[in-house]
Amino acid sequence: MIRDPNNESAAPHRYDAVSRLFHWLVLALLIVEFSIAWTMPEVHKDTRPDGLIAWHLFVGTLILATVVLRMLWRAFNPAPPDVPMPHWQAFAAKAIHKLLYAVLVVLPLMGWANASSRGWDVKLLGFIPLPALSPRGSDWGHELGDVHQAVAIGLLVIVGLHVAAAIYHQWVMRDDLLQRMLPPKS
Ligand code: HEM
Ligand code: HEM
Repeated sequence: MIRDPNNESAAPHRYDAVSRLFHWLVLALLIVEFSIAWTMPEVHKDTRPDGLIAWHLFVGTLILATVVLRMLWRAFNPAPPDVPMPHWQAFAAKAIHKLLYAVLVVLPLMGWANASSRGWDVKLLGFIPLPALSPRGSDWGHELGDVHQAVAIGLLVIVGLHVAAAIYHQWVMRDDLLQRMLPPKS
């Protein structure tokens, strides 16, 4: 049977609209967050969380909140049925998806703990106070700053694998997998 990816009346071949929105929103926020991270001033002992650093905290906590909402939504809204593919590929795809979710939670938490160890007040959306995740001046909170940077690079590598897989499906396997994350064509 030839599968028509635009046929919504057949099996649900796409992620629902909210899941699709969350997916592309997180990509957009990550582009903004990395652009800020790589242009903001280096953070030293006496640095204040002003200017671009404040924006980094703002967008970073927004990503965390968005990902938590996304995971809650996903828990009650299952993915569409799998596209036929070799078992190892389906396994690898699911493992990478889970890893992406995990890193998207752990990475901002580490940045937040580092900010707390510097004595910075972290606020969601710039006005909702969040608790300190590590005591002011704590060594482990300080160390997490370096781990945060390394894990951010790790995230880029995992996203790179994920995007490479999407490109492979689109142009080599030509199985329209990408359509599952896109709105129906009108
Ligand atoms: C997914 C979200 C995030 C990403 C992708 C991200 C990415 C990065 C990157 C790439 C750097 C290194 C910048 C450089 O090369 O100088 C960095 C540093 C930093 N980030 Fe994040 N970040 C995120 C979330 C957060 C959050 C939520 C906070 C705090 C609430 C935060 C606080 C910091 C701090 C304090 C540093 C400086 C660390 C140090 O130099 O010791 N980040 N972040
Ligand atoms: C150009 C960039 C991207 C493309 C083309 C892309 C494409 C896709 C596609 C086609 C799917 C559906 C896979 C399937 O049905 O098996 C998907 C799922 C997923 N993507 Fe992406 N993606 C991109 C960026 C990202 C980024 C930056 C993240 C997060 C860091 C991400 C996280 C995920 C996750 C977690 C899923 C699984 C959704 C679920 O089942 O809950 N993607 N992506």
